[in-house]
Amino acid sequence: MGDLLSEARSLDDSDQLSCFRDEFVSIEPDLIYLDGNSLGRLPKRSIEIANDVIARQWGVQLIESWKTWIDLSTTLGDRLSQSVLGAKKGEVVVCDSTTINLYKLALSIIKEQRGDKEARKKIVIEADNFPTDRYIVDSLAQEFGLEVITLPVDDSQTISIDLFEEAFDEDVIFGCFSALSYKSGARIDMAAVNSIAQGVGSRVIWDLSHAGGAVVVDLEGTESQYAIGCTYKYLNAGPGAPAYLYVRSDLIEAMENPIKGWFSQDDQFEMAEKYSPKSGISRFCTGTPNIFGSYLVGAGIDLIAEATIEALEAKGHALGDFFIKGFEVELKDLGFSLASPKDQSLRGSHVSLSHPRARQITSELIDHGVVPDFRTPSLIRFGFAPLYQSFIEISRAIQVIREVTIGMR
Ligand SMILES: Cc1ncc(COP(=O)(O)O)c(C=O)c1O
Repeated sequence: MGDLLSEARSLDDSDQLSCFRDEFVSIEPDLIYLDGNSLGRLPKRSIEIANDVIARQWGVQLIESWKTWIDLSTTLGDRLSQSVLGAKKGEVVVCDSTTINLYKLALSIIKEQRGDKEARKKIVIEADNFPTDRYIVDSLAQEFGLEVITLPVDDSQTISIDLFEEAFDEDVIFGCFSALSYKSGARIDMAAVNSIAQGVGSRVIWDLSHAGGAVVVDLEGTESQYAIGCTYKYLNAGPGAPAYLYVRSDLIEAMENPIKGWFSQDDQFEMAEKYSPKSGISRFCTGTPNIFGSYLVGAGIDLIAEATIEALEAKGHALGDFFIKGFEVELKDLGFSLASPKDQSLRGSHVSLSHPRARQITSELIDHGVVPDFRTPSLIRFGFAPLYQSFIEISRAIQVIREVTIGMR
C-alpha cells in the first residue's frame, strides 16, 4: 500500500488539472466521491449563476429576461459543439432529457424512410445499452413492426467490430449504441462503426452520456450523423439539467421533430394556427426550456473549455490506470475481477469491478466514506471525474475497499 501512496503523491504533484478541484463544493473533505459518472459534483460557480438567474434575471428583470433566454438552447449547443463534442456550429441543441431526445431522433428517422416502398425493417442495438435506450427502441420497434438485433458484449467487455459488420445490411434503419458503456466504460470505435453503417446506407444514433466531457468525442472527425447525451455526469450541470441532441448539418432539414411544440415553430410569437418547423437544429426543441438547468450546463461547458477535453481524457485514463494497478495489487485476491477494458484506449473515465457480494460491499463503502455505485447483478462502478479527483483519493479508496471486504468475511 505504501508504494501506491507514494506513487499517488507524485502523480498529484504533477497533475496540471489539480487547480480545478477548488472549483467544486466539498463540504466533507474526507469523502471520496467516485460517482461523478452518475451525478457530477456541484461547481462553486454554479451557485453564483443560479443565484443570478433567480435574484436578478427572474426576480428583477422578470419577463424581459426571455430576450436572452430564448436562444439559450442553441447558443449552449454551439458552445458544447466547440469545447466538448467536436461538432460544428448549428449542429447541437440543448433541450429536454436524453430519453426524449432519443425518442425524437429515432422516430424521426423511422418515419423519414417509411414512405419508401423498400422500407428497412431492423434496428441494431448492443446488450449493454442503457435501459432507457432499449425501452425507447423496443417500443418504437413494436409500434412499427420492426426487428431489434442485439449485439452481445464479449468477455473483454467490448463488441467485436466483426459483429457490427455482420449486423449491418441494407435492411437496417439505424443502430443505437453508447459510445461508452454505462456498465464497463468500454468504448466503441465510433468512426469504424459509422463507416460500416453508412456503407450500407444505414445510420447510427450515438448515446454520449458517459463520453461527453470525459473523452474526446470528435463528432465531425468520426463522421457521426446523430447523437444524444446528458449533462449531469461529467458536465456537472446538476440533476435534471437539460440534455443535448446532435444532427449533422446536412441531415437536419430532411428531419421532422415528432414532438411538434411551439419552441420549434417558425416565427414562434406569430402564434400561427398551423405548425411550420424552424429551419436548423432548433427544430428539435419542444416546449419551454429549463432555464436554471441550461445556465448550469453553461458553467459545466466553461470548466471543460478551461481544462480542455484532451487534458481531461488523459487524466481520466491515468486515474483509471492507477485504480487498475491498485486492484491488481490489493484487491484481486479478495474475489474482485476487472469488468472494464484494461487498455485505456478502449475505456472512458470509469472502471468497474465485479464481485459476488458487490451490493453489500458498495453499501459498506458508502458507510466508510467512499462513494461508488452498484449496478445489478454484481458490478461496482468507480467513476473518476478528472476535474476534481486526486490520485491520493484513489489510493485511499483502494485501501478502504480492501479493509471493508476483509471485514465482511
Ligand atoms: C447512457 C445513458 N443514457 C441515457 C440515460 C438516461 O437519461 P435521462 O434520464 O436523462 O433521460 C442515462 C442515465 O444515466 C445513461 O447513463
